[in-house]
Amino acid sequence: MTLTLPDTTRLIRQNFPPDFVFGVATSSYQIEGAAHEGGRSSSIWDTFCATPGKVMNGENGDVACDHYHRLDSDLDLIASLNVNAYRFSVAWPRIIPGGRGATNRAGLDFYSRLVDGLLARGITPWLTLYHWDLPQVLQDKGGWPERDTALAFGDYAAVVAAELGDRVKHWITINEPWVAAFLGYGVGVHAPGHTDLAESFAASHHLLLAHGLGVQAVRASVPDAQVGITLNLAAAYPASGSPADEAAAHRQDGFANRWYLGPVFGRGYPQDTVDLLGAASPQAQGLVLPGDLETISSPSDFLGVNMYSRSVVEDAPDGGGFLSVKQLRVEGSEYTGFDWEVAPQSLTDLMLRLQRDYNPAAIYITENGATYPDHVSPDGTVHDAARTRYFQQHLAALGAAITGGAKMAGYFAWSLMDNFEWAEGYDKRFGIVHVDFETQARTLKASGRWYRDFLAHAQQSQ
Ligand code: NOJ
Repeated sequence: MTLTLPDTTRLIRQNFPPDFVFGVATSSYQIEGAAHEGGRSSSIWDTFCATPGKVMNGENGDVACDHYHRLDSDLDLIASLNVNAYRFSVAWPRIIPGGRGATNRAGLDFYSRLVDGLLARGITPWLTLYHWDLPQVLQDKGGWPERDTALAFGDYAAVVAAELGDRVKHWITINEPWVAAFLGYGVGVHAPGHTDLAESFAASHHLLLAHGLGVQAVRASVPDAQVGITLNLAAAYPASGSPADEAAAHRQDGFANRWYLGPVFGRGYPQDTVDLLGAASPQAQGLVLPGDLETISSPSDFLGVNMYSRSVVEDAPDGGGFLSVKQLRVEGSEYTGFDWEVAPQSLTDLMLRLQRDYNPAAIYITENGATYPDHVSPDGTVHDAARTRYFQQHLAALGAAITGGAKMAGYFAWSLMDNFEWAEGYDKRFGIVHVDFETQARTLKASGRWYRDFLAHAQQSQ
């Protein structure tokens, strides 16, 4: 499926519906800092960062962007971008430091102030309940491979919904369950750093279960809430037209995309992936209990998609892991700092496919962005033309998806500002605002200026 992208140089806000959501996104551990303040307990990321060799340069989120202490000025910064929405996440260890049970007033108050500050500035809060900072106490009891963690998440979701649901109407349950499950428990490059395929698939099932319980908890106290999950999806393309490579792309799609889409949209787990996993599947482990698939497919209002790149794969019968798949670098393609291919056309392809195969009520791009080695020039500007082009190309691709019939309803740039990029520490900058981590100075990058002006255009002419 291919559509020709519109000319990016003529991209204007008016190409999108007037009520289209345009925002910026962040997450708690990546920006807040104040890791040991306000009654917050440790999360698995505090522990992981303290483990030698896990995070680049031994860095951690103790201070990060110091957002916890700079809330008001950061809110002004967000408002200056002309966005109508801000996506942030709540740190579970700030709300229920023991993982389960007693709530922490200081934590709830922080997010309450954040929400009030957004609303006062005319910005709609989009709240993510879980963006990877699991309370360490729950990991000590087994973490996501244990069913109890999903149940604890349901309780936590109910607490946050009861506290903020009068003002927050847009809720994301879980951010990128594939990453939390596979990078955290399968290959160990993210917290908690385990390397066990069966554990990672147990975790994936419980993260999905947590999503379903979260949807139910939010609906119970916020009847007018819009709730959904955010999946990291990357369209999988075969390296060649050979049947073997086509089959490899289908396996990759099962592992990375359909494994999450299927259960959320009421189709259950893809059987081809279950078969490939064998004893490591949650089914073979006896973890999929009666009623689980109904819970996971509790009706949601939208699908959130984090989209950065695509995969191009070839069949690798010897040495491609349990999937027998090898990811290829595409000759002639442009790559961002993470070695992720710039592939805007795949955004269009993916959105049209999602609409066709799953028919979501609405799709939001909850993250899209690029990392480059930025620096502040002597003229005081960050000249990140490649990032601006990346945004323009992906917004144009999104426009093509709308034209093609996908129910696109919004777009969030990742990220508001440079922040703690997980295992990469502060080395990888995704912000449209540059952060000097010595001084905490924020400098709007050229890409941020472009986004701000692109959005301002619409406001003037409305
Ligand atoms: C997706 C994750 O949700 C976010 O936390 C991360 O910083 C970006 N990808 C970039 O890697």
